[in-house]
Amino acid sequence: MAPFNTAQFVLEQDQAAPKEILRAAYAAFGELTVSFSGAEDVVLIDLALKVAPPEKVHVFSLDTGRLHAETYAFIERVRKHYGIKIDIRFPDTQAVQALVTQKGLYSFYHDGHQECCSIRKVAPLRERLQGLSMWVTGQRRDQSPGTRSTLQVAERDGAFGSEATPLFKINPLTHWTSEDVWTYIRMFDVPYNPLHERGFISIGCEPCTRPTLPHQHEREGRWWWEDKGGKECGLHVANLATR
Ligand code: ADX
Ligand code: SF4
Repeated sequence: MAPFNTAQFVLEQDQAAPKEILRAAYAAFGELTVSFSGAEDVVLIDLALKVAPPEKVHVFSLDTGRLHAETYAFIERVRKHYGIKIDIRFPDTQAVQALVTQKGLYSFYHDGHQECCSIRKVAPLRERLQGLSMWVTGQRRDQSPGTRSTLQVAERDGAFGSEATPLFKINPLTHWTSEDVWTYIRMFDVPYNPLHERGFISIGCEPCTRPTLPHQHEREGRWWWEDKGGKECGLHVANLATR
């Protein structure tokens, strides 16, 4: 397979529909690995299964141990709805134990979310991405004005890839708005997290997510006690570097 040319892919796919972006990514990589946690990601699973055979679509989810009960039920619903395997990844037991023994279960409210996120999300993600050449994410530009406004449909992932094994991130929903996502969900009966019916827009871990008020930006429901600019948990570190 020819080496992946990010600039060429962006040039050709920037204005394409997400389904076509996924089709092109499948043609380039021969498989699609979708990272799954929220509404956007189920749209991507739905689309990926329309452009690639099921055995070539891999789905993984990072279970931080702090998700809402509704989110666990939602993950199970997605698994059954599509008849797929979901590779659920857990954090390192000793690292979590050391953190909560030393600092308690809510240290992030006092000294920021980075340490907990790095143990519960980033380290398991690093392990899952080991040896992969691509992953698909549900990031959108309008999701986080502070950090995602320059997102591209394809990017070299400098945070997790290496020189020897370059890793590329495909973001088919870059130009979609939240409204586009929800139109698709309703049109194709895509399963969604019931918390969305209770005022939650962007959903992460239970202690770090809250519902938003009308006209509040969705990102304001995440790590609300922190400054706007740093609202990335480390899965998408490059977004912070380009601020
Ligand atoms: S985060 O960095 O703030 O947590 P966000 O919730 O906006 O990320 O999600 C952006 C994308 O990151 C999702 O569409 C998904 O691809 C990936 N992602 C986020 N959280 C997880 C998770 N727990 N498991 C797998 N992928 C995730
Ligand atoms: Fe920890 Fe909150 Fe990050 Fe979840 S979002 S890993 S609970 S700091």
